[in-house]
Amino acid sequence: MDNDIIIAPSILSADFSNLGQEISDIDEAGADWMHLDVMDGHYVPNLTFGPPIISKIRKFTKKIFDTHLMVSNPDDLLESYKDAGSDSITVHKEVCDDLDKTLSRIRQLGCKAGVSINPETSFSGLEKFLDKLDLILVMSVNPGFGGQKFIPSSIEKIKNIKSLIGNRQILLEVDGGVNDSNAPKLVKAGADILVAGSFVFNGNNISDYKKNISLLRNSF
Ligand code: DX5
Ligand code: ZN
Repeated sequence: MDNDIIIAPSILSADFSNLGQEISDIDEAGADWMHLDVMDGHYVPNLTFGPPIISKIRKFTKKIFDTHLMVSNPDDLLESYKDAGSDSITVHKEVCDDLDKTLSRIRQLGCKAGVSINPETSFSGLEKFLDKLDLILVMSVNPGFGGQKFIPSSIEKIKNIKSLIGNRQILLEVDGGVNDSNAPKLVKAGADILVAGSFVFNGNNISDYKKNISLLRNSF
């Protein structure tokens, strides 16, 4: 077990009819961060939630709100995501016309700035943004839906990005299809944050969530 690894459950797999309670439960079950998947029905086919819901759920936990924007126009609402209670904001490299400006704006707002890279997207070109980044999120499924199968080539990508990061203070996050069998390889490759949705929310009560989180934590 590596105590420095951050486990960030994606609330996408929570019961949305009981979201506040689900967040309290996953917090008590041992989540380190809360991963919030924002989808706009345009950049990705699915739709989830935006700032009004994030601000309503903020009171159910004091843990970090790690907001992952899968939207076509992230620049339009950055301030609203911050005001709603986000601690970090991650945007997709593919949609930003001026990534430098977007990342600077996120930091100006007082949030950690992240960039996300799809399975099909190369990380080349990221070198010039390293000074503006607090985290890099590697998608290990195509964005849009929870419960998809992990794409194994993500492991090599994580290794390569880890060496690009070197000793900079940038966290490396992996998102999609994470479970107790791929987690050891992901941690070994250099991941600092494991996002997991369907794996940790499997079951329907806090003791199931506790069991899932410890299975994950004890796998590496
Ligand atoms: C996919 C999301 C992920 C996803 C993780 O677009 O970014 O956060 O919900 O869920 P699982 O762990 O079920 O793949
Ligand atoms: Zn995500």
